[in-house]
Amino acid sequence: MENIIKSLAAKLTSKRLGHSLGVSETARVLAERFGAQPEKARLAGLIHDCARELSNNNLLQMAKSFGIVISDVEMANPSLLHAPVGAYLAKAEFGIMDEQVLQAVKLHTTGGPAMTILDKVVFLADYIEPNRSFPGVDQIRNLAQTDLDQAVLAAYDQTLRFVIAQGGLIHTASVEGRNFILLNSIKNE
Ligand SMILES: [Fe+2]
Ligand SMILES: [Fe+2]
Repeated sequence: MENIIKSLAAKLTSKRLGHSLGVSETARVLAERFGAQPEKARLAGLIHDCARELSNNNLLQMAKSFGIVISDVEMANPSLLHAPVGAYLAKAEFGIMDEQVLQAVKLHTTGGPAMTILDKVVFLADYIEPNRSFPGVDQIRNLAQTDLDQAVLAAYDQTLRFVIAQGGLIHTASVEGRNFILLNSIKNE
């Protein structure tokens, strides 16, 4: 873990490194609360943004070289690729082979359907770690005290509202992820 933090420090601004440490610790706590493996959450949280500061060109090139299928929305907004590219980079550069950890990194930005508890915990930690401050974050922090799915749902809602207000493109994985949770909660009623 110490070695990873050192090489992250060379890749990321100190602000982003602070964010990554915040996500790591928040993900660990959420994992303990909701029943994912805390060590995996801690690791995934630490490395989740390892590709965040690559240029758009670099992200596109690396995505191609890793064989990642680039959607139209990602082509128009390459920074979204930092999540899947980060998963490959974590394997190549940090030797992380744990597929559950790599999947949580891959899904941390858009979310997606059928996420594991570990995936959700990292997705949510990215949203609510202590350095985050935006309107509505405290409400999601409160939900994250008791209900993982409702907190993840609120994070999707907030992100989608924000993207729509900006006139931006919506990634289909976010829509699928949000529908998945809603359909599940209807089934369980
Ligand atoms: Fe990210
Ligand atoms: Fe992040």
